[in-house]
Amino acid sequence: MSDIILGIESSCDDTSAAVIKDGYLLSNVIASQQVHKDYGGVVPELASRAHEQNIVPVVSQALVKAGLEASDINAIAFTRGPGLLGSLLVGTSFAKALSVALDVPIIMVNHLQGHILANFVKQYDKPSAAPKFPYLCLLVSGGNSQIVRVDDPIHYEILGQTIDDAVGEAFDKCSKMMGLGYPGGPVIDRLAKLGDPEKYKFAKPHIPGLDYSFSGVKTSLLYFVRDEMEKDPEFMEKNKEDICASFQKTLIDILMDKLIKAVRQTGIKEVTIGGGVSANSGLRGRITEEGQKRGWNTYLPEFKFTTDNAAMIAIAGYFRYLKGERTPLDVAPVSRIADF
Ligand code: KG4
Repeated sequence: MSDIILGIESSCDDTSAAVIKDGYLLSNVIASQQVHKDYGGVVPELASRAHEQNIVPVVSQALVKAGLEASDINAIAFTRGPGLLGSLLVGTSFAKALSVALDVPIIMVNHLQGHILANFVKQYDKPSAAPKFPYLCLLVSGGNSQIVRVDDPIHYEILGQTIDDAVGEAFDKCSKMMGLGYPGGPVIDRLAKLGDPEKYKFAKPHIPGLDYSFSGVKTSLLYFVRDEMEKDPEFMEKNKEDICASFQKTLIDILMDKLIKAVRQTGIKEVTIGGGVSANSGLRGRITEEGQKRGWNTYLPEFKFTTDNAAMIAIAGYFRYLKGERTPLDVAPVSRIADF
């Protein structure tokens, strides 16, 4: 008999539902919320309301695309956290209600573990490679920057993480301050392709161990742009491609320095990336390049699995389902990883 898992993701500003059958993806529907665009960041209350509007049609569509009925589902995997509490409540409550209606179990998933396991989502029409255990994952998103050692689908250890801003936050905040739009990562990525990455230099942090810091480089960029704009109000407009290219290169250098150190310390040469920032073309190119140079096996997630999606939640839930894990119905969502 097949194992069919419905995944539900609602941790931030994307409502997503996916169906997997024995680890193979049948559907992955994502409704991205446009309401936040005017605010330059996600507005939690608006996100919760949009999830409420989206969740029923998104789940229905995921089932239709999978060619299945709700009664075919064996278990519902949902994101318990970390994320925005109101948003998580919508997905969690929906998962609970559907599980009661269908008499199937729910399985809670840590959102970050979904990103870490994104390479394991199998697709019928595309052969894909998954890393061998143990592997290292550079997890980079709007809320996290971590190096994680993954020992098996359930067990992992955070080897290093940001002590202040996440790298995605650095992209987003700097883009906003430079008037380039939101979310900043894709905008800076696009402009960076047109600029000279060596033209400007920004301060790099000196943090011991495998931890990261991105607030210094962010401040360094913002002061630099402010000072130059005082001299020439057109400075930003004239040089935005070079500024973005140099800034992006600095962020990638910071990420790679610690990743290289982590490989050296652990001796693990299976390396993946995950999270929204893993869509960055500069980072993808660089990790592939370093991998070739250093004899790593690198695995890049497909673009559709880099940002928030329910396919990764479904696959993380599937592994737990196979281990016999079930989550009681009185579970509550958690906004912080520490409360998981
Ligand atoms: O994992 P994710 O979808 O969600 C949260 O962390 O909530 O990551 C979103 C982050 C944002 O900071 C966004 O700017 C960044 O991923 N991002 C990128 C790119 N695409 C998305 N950053 C750099 N380059 C990109 N191409």
